[in-house]
Amino acid sequence: MAIKILHSFVATTLSLTTVLANAQTSAPLQFAGVNIAGFDFGCGTDGTCTSSGAVPPVSQLSGIDGLGQMQHFVNDNGYNVFRLPVGWQYLTRDQMTGVLDETQFANYNMLVSDCLSTGAYCVIDIHNYARYNGQIIGQGGPSNEIFAELWSNIASYWKNESKVIFGVMNEPHDIPSITTWAESGKSAVTAIREAGATNQLILLPGTDYASAKTFVSSGSADALSTVQNPDGTFTNLIMDVHKYLDSDSSGNNAECVTNGIEEAWDPLATWLRANGRQALNSETGGGNVDSCVSYISQQITYQAQQSDVILGYIGWSAGSFATYYVLSQVPSYIGTGWNDTLLVSMAMSPKTNLLVVSVV
Ligand SMILES: *[C@@H]1O[C@H](CO)[C@@H](O)[C@H](O)[C@H]1NC(C)=O
Ligand SMILES: *[C@@H]1O[C@H](CO)[C@@H](O)[C@H](O)[C@H]1NC(C)=O
Repeated sequence: MAIKILHSFVATTLSLTTVLANAQTSAPLQFAGVNIAGFDFGCGTDGTCTSSGAVPPVSQLSGIDGLGQMQHFVNDNGYNVFRLPVGWQYLTRDQMTGVLDETQFANYNMLVSDCLSTGAYCVIDIHNYARYNGQIIGQGGPSNEIFAELWSNIASYWKNESKVIFGVMNEPHDIPSITTWAESGKSAVTAIREAGATNQLILLPGTDYASAKTFVSSGSADALSTVQNPDGTFTNLIMDVHKYLDSDSSGNNAECVTNGIEEAWDPLATWLRANGRQALNSETGGGNVDSCVSYISQQITYQAQQSDVILGYIGWSAGSFATYYVLSQVPSYIGTGWNDTLLVSMAMSPKTNLLVVSVV
């Protein structure tokens, strides 16, 4: 890095001015982390999950060592947040209800407790695409009351844990009415706050798979900006956005083709600032290839320059995925230590990018 600045200085003083200006305006991000997936395995984008499809990243449940992964990410990389996806059906043992199954919830809580034990923040993510078995919450599927009951039961359990973050829903899409979806979001917020979780962050996702790129143009921003806490404030209600950098923005391809800045992050940051709101990028990633190292680095650098409105990023994904999964951020245990994927070690790790508050 020092060599680059010196080179700019030799080349033109303008370049040096630019480099320094950027450095001065970029404040550290509050959050960096990775998804610890597995309790969501078996969930389709139509919200069909089966509890038997889950692959818990918990060694006591015969799974991989999710705790070891998280301890490594905190201790060796400086990560400070993990997102813990789970299917609604897993928590209720395949019943369309807000009532938690005691055993299933205890299993999921093993992962949440493991996460909290590292000192990191832990995002509870209901990974259901705004649906239950093909039907949309509040729009033909489970009522807002059932959805609120689910969140009330979850929030009452962790109401005293300041490091639990409530991720209301993973990736809504093809939602007939975005304003009606905002009402479903509001019923979750009300339930969480009234359960006694009065201060924790709550993440609110828009449609189009929580797209950062279309958050404003889809109407998600306007609709979700009406969601308030019961006391009428917007305190700690954070917009939840995803971004993949491959050619079709799907996260299915190894190669990255964009840093997402012009198409997504710039218009999003402008809207957030104008409206006094903030967002968290709770899924992003790419293959373990040079194009993604480069574009993800650019994306994170830009996010850090907008850290007044963008709180941080969470990679997709570690946890129960195979190390050969195209978007794997799963570390490998080799001999006496953990070895990170190319993308984590070269771009996403706060120890590498020095753009996250826990490491700066
Ligand atoms: C939360 O804290 C309150 C007050 O200290 C206590 O009465 C309550 O039992 C706690 N609840 C849980 C679920 O830990
Ligand atoms: C560690 O991971 C890197 C990719 O980040 C890989 O190139 C290297 O071969 C791995 N080392 C071992 C010992 O497996």
